[in-house]
Amino acid sequence: MCGIVAYIGPQEAHPILIKGLKRLEYRGYDSAGIAILNDTLKVFKTKGKVADLEEFIREKDVHGTIGMAHTRWATHGEPNNVNAHPHFSQSEELALIHNGIIENYAVIREELRQNGYSFQSDTDTEVLIQLIEYIKKKSNASLIEAVQSALTQVVGAYAIVILSKTDKDTIIAARKGSPLVVGIGENEFLLASDATPIVEYTKDVVYLDDEEIAIIKRGESLKVKTIRDVEKFPVVSKLEINLSQLEKEGYDHFMLKEIFEQPKTIRDSYRGRINCNNQVISMAGIIDHVDRFMNADRIIITAAGTSWHAGLVGEYLFEEIARIPVEVEYSSEFRYRNPVIYPNDVIIAISQSGETADTLAAIELGKQKGAFIYGICNVVGSSIARATDAGSYTHAGPEIGVASTKAFTAQVTVLVLMALALGQRKGTIDDASIQRILSELQEIPEKVERTLTLSPVIRDISRMFTYSRNFLYLGRGFNFPVALEGALKLKEISYIHAEGYPAAEMKHGPIALIDREMPVVVIATNSGTYEKIISNIQEVKARKGKIIAIVTEGDVTVKELADFCLEIPSTEEMLVPLLATIPLQILAYYIAVFRDCNVDQPRNLAKSVTVE
Ligand code: M6R
Repeated sequence: MCGIVAYIGPQEAHPILIKGLKRLEYRGYDSAGIAILNDTLKVFKTKGKVADLEEFIREKDVHGTIGMAHTRWATHGEPNNVNAHPHFSQSEELALIHNGIIENYAVIREELRQNGYSFQSDTDTEVLIQLIEYIKKKSNASLIEAVQSALTQVVGAYAIVILSKTDKDTIIAARKGSPLVVGIGENEFLLASDATPIVEYTKDVVYLDDEEIAIIKRGESLKVKTIRDVEKFPVVSKLEINLSQLEKEGYDHFMLKEIFEQPKTIRDSYRGRINCNNQVISMAGIIDHVDRFMNADRIIITAAGTSWHAGLVGEYLFEEIARIPVEVEYSSEFRYRNPVIYPNDVIIAISQSGETADTLAAIELGKQKGAFIYGICNVVGSSIARATDAGSYTHAGPEIGVASTKAFTAQVTVLVLMALALGQRKGTIDDASIQRILSELQEIPEKVERTLTLSPVIRDISRMFTYSRNFLYLGRGFNFPVALEGALKLKEISYIHAEGYPAAEMKHGPIALIDREMPVVVIATNSGTYEKIISNIQEVKARKGKIIAIVTEGDVTVKELADFCLEIPSTEEMLVPLLATIPLQILAYYIAVFRDCNVDQPRNLAKSVTVE
């Protein structure tokens, strides 16, 4: 979604801002703009990519040591030059960039129109800056007072940065619902919607909380107060990411890099959480709140997209290992359907970005009903990580490709550990089984390495299916979420229609689609339902569908039936998702590459979905 970066300090602002926007490109956007404050306040913006903006400002006067820049992902109004941010106020005294949505913009715009204001764009953002100017002028208020007053009137989500022509040494920023981070460097400050543009300059950051306003003045220390004028003490955190994690490091795409990072990221996810004789799982979030888990009649997992698929694997894990009933909910549905939530429910919210608006809202709903909320997040310091009662980070490192890969396997790894930790305490799994599964989990990184060697073969297979119009993915048990995840990967980056199904459900409808044009990816690894899935493969074969099978090394039966067979190492059934997902990620990747798609920034998609 939209990206924000702002700078004040001794350096030329615009190279820092452009570089920052490039770091934020992964979030997804369709236009970009920049404002620089020197002798006057200048705004340049254009539809298209940051490179287009760079070209646009090449000959312009963009000198100055204070400025802000934005990448816009269109919500209100089509992507064009006018709707791009920054937006000026009527007098052009103020300019604003904004992430989020002002829900009551139409009412405010009407009131402002009646007071003589006119609007250039179709955006909700322009309404906000006009409102601030209107309040400032009408009440003879300071800029801060006008911002505070305006923000108490708006409904919705915002992360905003404001520059004023009449105050050439100040940046005002505020947030509610959309993230905003302030980086504190040597005599300089950076602001951004996530840490990626900041890490190059400083590791000291302050995460603004909802309804907080940052007042940043050249040569002074950061001041934070709320929209209701309560002074806050800014708490400085240390960034844990480093610059190399934000580079492609020789890979053609971030997605490919992230796929190949999985041996390391899975290891990082369990590192320090298993003791040396595989007997104890130590997860502070569980140890500190063990009673909440022990007394829970059920667990509700809430998430979106890939994280929801990890949640489905979690359902199988918790029920199998810890014998706790689990419901897995799409956050977007859960938040609006008046769900039954009991105070002794445990809600697990899973999110890579930690910023997904629907998941944040689901958490708020759970909190209101008194449930205990546990977060599984990748981004340290993210809104979800801070909104939950406790949680575990996945430690997968920054995920830049819009298609989630390493975050999924890291989430599943954490869920395995949680299920084992709870099963151990509840006595629903014996020590020998725990030791066996944990020692197998520690074999997974090496087995992922072996699975990654399938890449050239998968590349060849991908070439054959580059122009397929549809794909079906089938799996059972722990591999059903894997089928869903494989289909999602393919559709989001290659734009080929793909469906994931529990294999046995195929005959209740999707079988009608199968003909010689239909590739069917079947995850048919060794499991309790292996024989059953062979029957499903036969059903596809009888209708001449093309079968790409993921099987366990040494498989004989499926090999004879499938058109293409990809063998992955043998492991515990519950750990298979950590391996079986890998070839599906690679398949989607190469098909998208052969179709000339923008793999890392697929059309219409955003990396962190901060609007509902
Ligand atoms: O950051 P989150 O994990 O909360 O994001 C949830 C989904 O938006 C995300 O998984 C999305 O489906 C990905 N593009 C999938 O690859």
